[in-house]
Amino acid sequence: MRRRRLLCSLLLVTAAGTATAAAPPPAAAAPAATPLDRVVPAPAAVHPGGDPYTLGDRTTIRVPGGGAEARQVAGYLAGLLRPATGFSLPVTTRSGSDGIVLKIGGKDTAKLGAEGYRLESGPRSVTVRAARPAGLFHGVQTLRQLLPPSVERRTEQPGAWRIAGGTVTDTPRYGYRAAMLDVSRHFFGVRQVKRYIDQLALYKLNTLHLHLSDDQGWRIAIDSWPKLTSHGGSTQVGGGRGGFFTKADYREIVKYAASRYLTVVPEIDMPGHTNAALSSYAELNCDGKAPPLYTGTDVGFSSFCVPKKKTYDFVDDVVRELAAMTPGRYLHIGGDEAHSTSHDDYVAFMDKVQPVVAKYGKTAIGWHQLAGAHPAKGTVAQYWGYDATSADERKEVTEAAAHGTRLIISPADRSYLDMKYDKNTPLGLAWAGYVSVRRSYDWNPATYLPGVPEKGVLGVEAPLWTETLSTSAQLEYMAFPRLPGIAELGWSPASSHDWDRYRARLAAQGPRWDAMGIGYYRSPEVPWPGRS
Ligand code: ACM
Repeated sequence: MRRRRLLCSLLLVTAAGTATAAAPPPAAAAPAATPLDRVVPAPAAVHPGGDPYTLGDRTTIRVPGGGAEARQVAGYLAGLLRPATGFSLPVTTRSGSDGIVLKIGGKDTAKLGAEGYRLESGPRSVTVRAARPAGLFHGVQTLRQLLPPSVERRTEQPGAWRIAGGTVTDTPRYGYRAAMLDVSRHFFGVRQVKRYIDQLALYKLNTLHLHLSDDQGWRIAIDSWPKLTSHGGSTQVGGGRGGFFTKADYREIVKYAASRYLTVVPEIDMPGHTNAALSSYAELNCDGKAPPLYTGTDVGFSSFCVPKKKTYDFVDDVVRELAAMTPGRYLHIGGDEAHSTSHDDYVAFMDKVQPVVAKYGKTAIGWHQLAGAHPAKGTVAQYWGYDATSADERKEVTEAAAHGTRLIISPADRSYLDMKYDKNTPLGLAWAGYVSVRRSYDWNPATYLPGVPEKGVLGVEAPLWTETLSTSAQLEYMAFPRLPGIAELGWSPASSHDWDRYRARLAAQGPRWDAMGIGYYRSPEVPWPGRS
């Protein structure tokens, strides 16, 4: 039965003539173990050697004396591997030197920091060690990628389930490695956000930035201002139904993200990008009149009323309620494209709002225009400029960085996942130009803005704006294969940066995405293997 399915798929591949890179293996051959240096993001240090480990139906997952978090990571790993392998993979806290072993602490793990891990693979066992549970989780993602791509399928598959022998010692380059999802232009529900979180986790990202409000929709319940969601969340770009997260939904996302070692950064974009809020409450408008809801895609036409006291009552309530359900340290206050706010008003508004974020125990992040106002001590600026950004605007950002404002680097013509790949891309926008897979990978976050001190870069982010995207399949077509490149810029040492080697590793991810049901863009820049 299994054999026939395999044979059928081989025939299909041959018939379709897609197997250009390498001849398909004979039907009876077990898939070769993935070499340790095929992992994305590239690990910091790889020492291949020795015999592989082979998972079998007697393999156990050991968390010797493991605490709740280590046990949870073990349970997650078992859940990933059971469907395709068909093995029971029991999780046990009993120690032993065989099977898959997940361990917190011991044997030099302090050097691995908050997120690093060491994976040692040999004929008797695969051991992942880390100082902290996040490191164990990232190590598990490496272990997962070392197994054949068919391990991602949710029905039983033929093995063999081999993990190449050797050692991987791995720590991240940056502590902030994010993806942003715009749930305002089009709304994406809890299930869709969880699906995206799972995809981010595979590439060791640790932050999910949710763009929760914009002109087209307000997507997070705020009890003290209920019309924000009942009215402001009722539509989206194109006039569809929209939607919003209840507080329970939001908490569920935060919890799910935490189980994948991602922190949620919520964004309320202001003082511009606020039509949905202005439409929900007339008193937030300088003229006291609520504008209609907006379902187009223009930007820069809305502004909170900066001189009005009511505006700050509103901001205080929103930040208080949002901060109370957000365990992470950051709260994003937007601040981009405030074209309908005078510069003086913009500065006055940001001067008032940053202390509100601090009052509720959070650190503010703002889009980089905040650098042209007065970034408060500790505030982080997110650079989203591109090659056409003026020297003056860049200078504001680099000067702020020289004065201690830390930066998240997300250049629109490099890391925006909603930019078209080329002129034929059916989805997405092109205002920052086309962003090919190479263009999105082949740059250096540390030197992208000359003059920014090394410590000034907190990390990288890949934003995904959704003016043209309304389904998970569409998100995935734009994110894959570019998202892993941004993840690699955030995780891997600069010394490993090499387009030719990267695209070979990226190509090997294609069959994994096929197995996961991710419909990625088969960019001609990447030597994809034939489909199986
Ligand atoms: C942005 O793309 N307006 C931050």
